[in-house]
Amino acid sequence: MPKDQWVRTRVPLERRSEPFDWLRAFGRVAPRVLDLGCGNGLYLVSSALRRPTHDHLGIELVPPALRLASLRAGQRGLSHCKFAWGDATEFIVSRCPTASVDEVHLYHPQPYYDASKVDRRQLAPRTLFAIWRALVPGGLFVFQTDNPAYWKWTAEHAPRLFDWHEQPGPWADAPAGRTLREIRARAQGLEIFRALATRLELDAATAEARAANMRAPTFDANKPGHGPEDTSREPSSAARSRRRP
Ligand SMILES: C[S@@+](CC[C@H](N)C(=O)[O-])C[C@H]1O[C@@H](n2cnc3c(N)ncnc32)[C@H](O)[C@@H]1O
Repeated sequence: MPKDQWVRTRVPLERRSEPFDWLRAFGRVAPRVLDLGCGNGLYLVSSALRRPTHDHLGIELVPPALRLASLRAGQRGLSHCKFAWGDATEFIVSRCPTASVDEVHLYHPQPYYDASKVDRRQLAPRTLFAIWRALVPGGLFVFQTDNPAYWKWTAEHAPRLFDWHEQPGPWADAPAGRTLREIRARAQGLEIFRALATRLELDAATAEARAANMRAPTFDANKPGHGPEDTSREPSSAARSRRRP
């Protein structure tokens, strides 16, 4: 857009104890799309371009990625697409109001190959429950990864809270890839695992109890397709010949 139509797209998360105020952030009530660990915002910005009727919020820990995402949206005049710097796990667990979001997207969460960092993995029983809690009835959870062990853990546990459907190929809205990581992983010959899941209608106590019975995501992500928990899906030979980043 011409410079005089650029908009500010950064939004603060406010104090830790305070719930996120969607109305104050966007100035309207609209369907809401949340991207946890949005990277450079490729998915969120393209979704906002296609869906001006929806408010979009991306949360990202790394400031340069967040700046790029925010610039992309701002220079396109997308006032319904905003970005916040912060911990997306903390956001979904502690700040995002119950039943306030229509779609939660999680694309290529960091596998954290080092065993000492596995507790940083974005998906764990408490975050799956928090996503379920934050979604409105019938809300969508979209998940994607190129890490077979991460996929296996998620595909085993998420169906306890969501009606889980594997998406067989690229999303129709983005045949070349919805996110930068997807585009890069495909260029490396890695298989992409995608799912579209609808929140199950459960009472909160049942959902919490189901999450409490899930295994912690302590899988070995070091050698995709060859970890102790995952021999079912082999990466391509091109992928096998490359070391993970
Ligand atoms: C592999 S990248 C994927 C980025 C983007 N979703 C994509 O698919 O291109 C993982 C992203 O998650 C971010 N991230 C990891 N843990 C996070 C957290 N707790 N809160 C917010 N962002 C996080 C990283 O900074 C990184 O940008």
